[in-house]
Formats: sequence, C-alpha cells, structure tokens
Amino acid sequence: MTYGSIAPYVGSPIAVIRRMLQIARLKPGETLMDLGSGDGRVLIIAAREFGANAIGVEIRPDLAKQAQQKIEQLNLGHRVKVLNMNMFDADVSQADVITLYLTTSGNQRLRPKLEKELKPGARVVSHDFEVPGWKPAYVETFRENPHYTWTTHTIYLYKPKPQKF
Ligand SMILES: C[S@@+](CC[C@H](N)C(=O)[O-])C[C@H]1O[C@@H](n2cnc3c(N)ncnc32)[C@H](O)[C@@H]1O
Repeated sequence: MTYGSIAPYVGSPIAVIRRMLQIARLKPGETLMDLGSGDGRVLIIAAREFGANAIGVEIRPDLAKQAQQKIEQLNLGHRVKVLNMNMFDADVSQADVITLYLTTSGNQRLRPKLEKELKPGARVVSHDFEVPGWKPAYVETFRENPHYTWTTHTIYLYKPKPQKF
C-alpha cells in the first residue's frame, strides 16, 4: 500500500538526533536511512559524527534539493545521498538503522513495509511517535534543557527482527 505525505516538515533538534543515533548504537561504516529526511540534518550528523553511510528519502523536491546542496557543500557526497521519492517505494533492505520523525499513524502505515523488508538486526529509532503494535526495546525521555518541560522529547528504540546467533 502506498500513501502520499504522512508528516509535515519539522526538523529534529540536533541534540535529539545525536541521542537517537547513540541509542541506536550507529557504528562507522553502517548504513542509516532517514525516512522523511527533511533538510538532511540526520544524514549529516550520522556521517560526520558517527562515520556512517547515510541515505535520506524525502518526498518534497525542495527539501531534497536543499539537503543535497548542503551535502555537497560539506563534501559528504561519497557517503551521503538523498532520494527524492516516496518512502513507501524506497528499498530499505540495506539499512542497519532507520530513523523516523513522522506521526503515530504514519508509523503504523509504514510498519508492514519495515516488517517485510528490514534485515535481521536492523534498529529503528523514532522521535516522539511510537510504532503501534511494536514493543520498544528501550524508551528514553530526553530533555534538551533541564529547566523547561516543553523541551522534552521521547525516543523509541525498536528491534523488529532480532539477530539470531
Ligand atoms: C517531521 S519531518 C522530519 C525531518 C527529519 N527526519 C528530522 O528528523 O529532522 C518529516 C519529513 O517527512 C517527509 N515525508 C512525509 N511523508 C513522506 C513520504 N511518504 N515519503 C518521503 N518523505 C515523506 C516530509 O516532507 C518531512 O520532510
């Protein structure tokens, strides 16, 4: 089943992105996919700070272009790319880590695709919205500023296909 846009554009705060990637234990050389990659900030942090390869999937041409320009300015083109397409049509089978900042209903629509295509051991980290029907491996309440409750974010970690040894 394919849907159109399932979330508006809002960028995740940088501190939240860093914490999401730490929680996912993103390692150098792994492949991260940000489904709905907006201005590319998750991709850039994954590549520069975690040494990962990163692929963004973004339905809005203006945002995909903006992200691609930033990636080129930062000379990250060898490790980061943006696909201007619908995430429901993207191949997610190579991802070690998937990042999401969508909506609860969007995550629900995406779940069957992830269950079908993700490789064993892949981790899914979602900012603020749970994936209905999945049991999180870990949930963290992250406060950007300890004094202000409105800077609180929730980070959900899922391991939908645990690796069998
Ligand atoms: C809340 S923003 C998150 C941006 C980025 N991941 C972050 O955390 O900073 C959600 C993004 O998903 C994109 N989006 C929504 N539905 C999509 C779809 N079906 N395929 C690809 N991108 C989509 C929106 O255009 C928007 O840029």
